[in-house]
Amino acid sequence: MNLKRAAITGVHGYVPDYILTNQELETMVDTNDEWITSRTGIKERRILKGENKGVSVIGIEAVKGLLEKTNTKAEDIDLIICATTTPDMAFPATGNIIANAVGAVNSFSYDLQAACSGFLYALTTGSQFIATGLYKKVIVVGADKMSSIIDYTDRATCIIFGDGGGAVMLEPSEDETGIIDTELHSDGSGEPYLHMKAGGSRKPASVETLQNKEHYVYQEGSQVFKFAVKNMADTAAEVADRNNLTGDDIAYLVPHQANKRIIDATANRIGLPEEKVMLNIQKFGNTTSGTIPLCLWDYESKLKKGDNLILAAFGGGFTWGATYIKWSYDSK
Ligand code: UT7
Repeated sequence: MNLKRAAITGVHGYVPDYILTNQELETMVDTNDEWITSRTGIKERRILKGENKGVSVIGIEAVKGLLEKTNTKAEDIDLIICATTTPDMAFPATGNIIANAVGAVNSFSYDLQAACSGFLYALTTGSQFIATGLYKKVIVVGADKMSSIIDYTDRATCIIFGDGGGAVMLEPSEDETGIIDTELHSDGSGEPYLHMKAGGSRKPASVETLQNKEHYVYQEGSQVFKFAVKNMADTAAEVADRNNLTGDDIAYLVPHQANKRIIDATANRIGLPEEKVMLNIQKFGNTTSGTIPLCLWDYESKLKKGDNLILAAFGGGFTWGATYIKWSYDSK
């Protein structure tokens, strides 16, 4: 089979307006700006407020903006994959809700769940449909409304997470640029350290699960931190090495934004100075599936055709991975 390389041909992001600052968190839990900033790098995060607003609100805005920017008709989209850990509902898929709202009447759509590695998993999955030649236009969304599963009395988790996301367009590459290499991993033995105890089929919602606060993120932060530092850095280094990329060859590391210290460790490992690391954790916090597309959106104007990017993520599961992209366009 003659495989085609997939290229990202556009990116757009969306974050809600409401800004939850470290100062406001100081009024909610026993914490302070100095602790949060030095331990995580986060100053503020966005929160999607309002009744009946799910993560699809974020996905719809990101996809609408992407269609406009790339001058694409919604009916020309073949597939929408939505990476999220906080779908609007258990079913139907949030991807279906987004496709319907934007008028992607000829696409099929589905959700993919890999926690903080969701966007990398979905990017890899979406690019296969381009590679085989089956589809010409695939949209990959990474978005989360983490505020819907966060306990705002738990200072260890509520300071980290925020709401937001982005979407990229994948099309067949016309040249040597595009998604070149990927390595993905998962290890289910990480479950005890990062999970949500109830609300799934193992433990459906009940009065008891609500009283026990089992519908929130449970995280043993320092354990997750150790696995994240090792695996994100190892995998990013492996993908760089096997493509003969040194720090000089890489334009940007595009890391999942979980903790500035994890990002620094990964950058050090592949020999990158701070100015070659995409960083927006200070203003958006950890948006789970949203972090990497939000970074690409934030830095899009700085990217040039041919730039070598290493994307890297680690999250619940455990799941982790890294992707090498040769960027496909100069921004206008
Ligand atoms: O997104 C993908 C998956 N998630 C991650 O990658 C997150 C990885 N983990 C982390 O980023 C860090 O572990 C956290 C930011 C969650 C926590 O930082 P830490 O340096 O690992 O702190 P810790 O949990 O070891 O706690 C150290 C101390 C504890 O106090 P004692 O027991 O030493 O007295 C905590 O109770 O810091 C305390 N603490 C806080 N203090 C002030 C925990 N949270 C806070 C807080 N403000 N918000």
